[in-house]
Amino acid sequence: MDYKKYIAEKLKINGVSSEELKEFIEVPPSFDVGDYALPCFRLSKILKKSPVLIAEELKSAVAADGVISSVEAVNGYLNFRLNRAVFVKDTLNKILTENERYGASDMGAGKTVCLDYSSVNIAKPFHIGHLSTTVIGAALYRIYKFLGYNAVGINHLGDYGTQFGKLIYAYKKWGDRAVIDKKGLKEITRLYVKYHEEAEKDPSMDDKAREYFKLIETGDKECIELFEYFKKITLADIGKIYDMLGVTFDSYAGESFYNDKMAPVVKMLEEKGLLTESQGAMIVDLSKYDLPPCIILRSDGASLYATRDLAAAYYRKKTYDFDKCLYVVAYQQDLHFKQVFKVLELLGEPWAKDMVHVSYGMVSLEDGAMSTRKGHVVLLEDVLKKTVEKALNIIDEKNSALENKNEIAKMIGVGAVVFGALSSSRIKDVTFSYDKVLSFEGETGPYVQYTVARCNSVLKKGGCITTDATVSNICDQEYELIKHLETFPSVVKTAAERYEPFYVTRFALETAKLFNKFYFDCKIIGEDPAVTAFRLKLTAATRICLTSALSLLGVKAPEQM
Ligand code: ARG
Repeated sequence: MDYKKYIAEKLKINGVSSEELKEFIEVPPSFDVGDYALPCFRLSKILKKSPVLIAEELKSAVAADGVISSVEAVNGYLNFRLNRAVFVKDTLNKILTENERYGASDMGAGKTVCLDYSSVNIAKPFHIGHLSTTVIGAALYRIYKFLGYNAVGINHLGDYGTQFGKLIYAYKKWGDRAVIDKKGLKEITRLYVKYHEEAEKDPSMDDKAREYFKLIETGDKECIELFEYFKKITLADIGKIYDMLGVTFDSYAGESFYNDKMAPVVKMLEEKGLLTESQGAMIVDLSKYDLPPCIILRSDGASLYATRDLAAAYYRKKTYDFDKCLYVVAYQQDLHFKQVFKVLELLGEPWAKDMVHVSYGMVSLEDGAMSTRKGHVVLLEDVLKKTVEKALNIIDEKNSALENKNEIAKMIGVGAVVFGALSSSRIKDVTFSYDKVLSFEGETGPYVQYTVARCNSVLKKGGCITTDATVSNICDQEYELIKHLETFPSVVKTAAERYEPFYVTRFALETAKLFNKFYFDCKIIGEDPAVTAFRLKLTAATRICLTSALSLLGVKAPEQM
């Protein structure tokens, strides 16, 4: 039942539609005031009366009924209280019947959303800087699917550029296939670092590297074979991390995929008179829009990052006919996407408005050192391993007899990192701390997981719920929890609309908090049978919501902890 809609339709006001009214109705910060409120100042312009007067008049015009237990006018607000018993029964039944589909929807049916996330660079280490794009993108992907959209996950691999020429040079000089086969990406990065050290002493190496890169572009068999090999090794290593994180993609079409798809774009730009020459390079002048020029071709004719993104945008539109195309990329690339989207708009593409840069802040480590500049990168794999190890230590301290300790430690450790990365609004810079993400008491993944395990153990002890649990006296702890669970479907929608998984994280945390308050204040098992049955139902509904929220975020919930 949509309570806002119900109230809006009950309040007949001349000149204001019930849809408009519904938008005005809000949930008061504290439920002591009421369950819903209409701030009447929103109507004073239209009705030409003071909010206080409007509230008084409306109050005498609407009567309480089976759904609404009371209506009050307070300081220009019209406050509504719901009939708790009806609300609670209605909500609990809905959650328990819909089960893992509670909060899901078909609002996205027939619509496609492309999501470009993670988009790692081949032959470069997968460091903690890639955590946000990977987990934010994957969470949005799941959220869109949950809402019935056709979601397309794209890993726009960074597999183009002179660094591959450098790598071929390094490989030919110091490389050994057997070692790479054994050590994987670590060995490739070692070669790459060695190249840079040596090239500092001998700059002529760079010319040679550029030549190798040209050979890849012109289709030299040996160079292409090596390039594909480096790519395979990188993807195999990074794939292990994706598996750990439960992250998947529908396409790995990276930058090099667009090698033969850029010429038509350049031609179009030319035909529309958008291309101008500047110091030998071909650019799109964007000064009218207060943006630096978008460089399309360098003076040597080589394409750029932006050129490949333009070709990729056309390819995606043609292939997927998206309704939206999202780019989950750090805010350092704000300018790049502004330029690319502007060029598409100038090309007259109506779908340019459907392109969205979902930007996010930086992750740094607690000791302040995640600088690639200082030369020491923090590998995501190491962070995950260390968190899992620490989780295992915590289990050993708290509950060493736990079965499947290693499996559970993995779920807790990885879950802690993922949940931690989704614990603040995406645009904020965040500082990663092992102790913070792993704390069982803080606003963390383990805290939520622990609450799910607590629900499991209550339900195991309580047995199955057979009684139709109708309870007349609903206490505040119960009511507050159910009211919160009722918001889950709208939370998921807001997360999708604002490209912000954090809404789901916050929902999970608040659910866990409210459940634990209920758990400590109210006895569940051993009460009057009707009360116990009702509280078990509430526990089951909590578990459903928590499990769904966690799974949208990409966090697994262990059966017990
Ligand atoms: N590989 C790029 C980087 O690491 C991110 C690519 C983002 N996606 C895109 N279509 N430009 O910076």
